[in-house]
Amino acid sequence: MEKSSRARIAIDGPAGAGKSTIAKLLAKELGVDYVDTGAMYRAVALKLLRTDTDCADQEALAAMLAGTDVDIDGGHIILDGEIVDGLIRTPEVSALASTSSAQPLIREKLVALQRAMGDKKSLVMDGRDIGTNVFKDAEYKFYLTASSLVRAQRRAAELAEKGIECDLEQVKADIEQRDWQDSHRALNPLKRAEDAVEIDSSFMTIPEVLEAMLDVIDR
Ligand code: DC
Repeated sequence: MEKSSRARIAIDGPAGAGKSTIAKLLAKELGVDYVDTGAMYRAVALKLLRTDTDCADQEALAAMLAGTDVDIDGGHIILDGEIVDGLIRTPEVSALASTSSAQPLIREKLVALQRAMGDKKSLVMDGRDIGTNVFKDAEYKFYLTASSLVRAQRRAAELAEKGIECDLEQVKADIEQRDWQDSHRALNPLKRAEDAVEIDSSFMTIPEVLEAMLDVIDR
């Protein structure tokens, strides 16, 4: 990557494929900003819960969005001026973000914010529709995936580290349910961009995935 030129690096893929871990490391390595777009959809879902807004009521949703400010600053996700990094990682917010992110009004608002971020500077942005929609002309596109079993095992290990016991089959079923929802919605579904480099991380370590991406970028 030329040091002087602006580069937008898009990383898409299903839940639990390791996108945010890799994207963060890649951004650090390249000295550019990292934008977690999933966190933005989660912040809006948190606001929906807090304001008890029903997405089926489009007028109420539009009014709620008009009074909502979502930003990413210094690695923090900020909702109406409040850092909500931890609050957006609950199962309740995960489930609502997966359904509410299908709402055109929500996508319209967040995609506009994401494009404005990429207009200004180089960044690594991860999500579901970055290479196919947000930055169709991104300088680099990756599609990071892994089998649902491996993704469930990683998630279960994360929970175990926090002392939370879980049923692997249930975690796998939840992941598959989210995959289905994310890839079957009408607007900007999860899909590999034709020109994205696909990396299956099922049997790769984090440094190996990072190396594979840096190889493409340095090429
Ligand atoms: O990556 P994540 O699990 O934090 O994302 C939360 C939800 O947001 C996920 O179910 C799909 C949705 N999402 C989306 O629709 N488009 C994106 N660019 C990023 C996330």
